[in-house]
Amino acid sequence: MKSLVVYYSLSGNTKYIAECIAKELNADILELKTKNNPPSKGFLKYLIGGFGVVLRRKPELVNKKIDIDKYDHIFLGSPIWAGDFVPAFNTFASQYDITNKYLGFFACHSGDNASKCFERFKDCFPNNRFLGEISFKEPLKYNSQRAGLRAVDWISLLPINK
Ligand SMILES: Cc1cc2nc3c(=O)[nH]c(=O)nc-3n(C[C@H](O)[C@H](O)[C@H](O)COP(=O)(O)O)c2cc1C
Repeated sequence: MKSLVVYYSLSGNTKYIAECIAKELNADILELKTKNNPPSKGFLKYLIGGFGVVLRRKPELVNKKIDIDKYDHIFLGSPIWAGDFVPAFNTFASQYDITNKYLGFFACHSGDNASKCFERFKDCFPNNRFLGEISFKEPLKYNSQRAGLRAVDWISLLPINK
C-alpha cells in the first residue's frame, strides 16, 4: 500500500519537509489549500492565523476529495500556529474518517517545541497507530539541507516498507 503525506504551508517550510518525506517514501502528496489564507506578511498574519487556531475554525478547503482508503501510512505536517496545528487540519479531520492507519507527524516552528501540536494531532485522530513525530525550526531560514537529511533519517528509522 502507498503512503500519503498531507501538509499545509503558508511560507514554504512545511512544504519543503513534506516534499523530502514524500520523495523518500515515494508517497503521494496532498497540500491542503484553504479558500482564504491569512495575509502572508505582517501583524495581521499572526492575528488572523492565531484567531483561527484559538476558535478551532474549519476553513473551507479547495482540495478535491481523495480516496483515503488507498493509504495505510499517512504523514501529517503543519506549521505551528499559536502552539497548535493549523486550522486546515480541523477541516481535514472532519472530512475524512481516518482509523486503523499508521500516522506520523511533522511540524515546523520558529522556536516553540511542537509537543502540544503532536498531542492534539493524536487526540484528533484516535484509533490509529502512531509511528512517530519530528519538528524543525524554520528549515528554509536555518539549514534546509540539514533539515532535509534529518527528515530522511527519521523516515529511515520507521517501520515502513517503501
Ligand atoms: C499565525 C502564526 C502563528 C504562529 N505561531 C507560532 C507559535 O506559536 N510558535 C512558534 O514556534 N512559531 C509560530 N509561528 C511561526 C511558524 O510556525 C513558522 O514560521 C513555520 O516555520 C512556518 O511554516 P510554513 O513556512 O510551512 O508556513 C507562527 C506563524 C504564524 C503565521
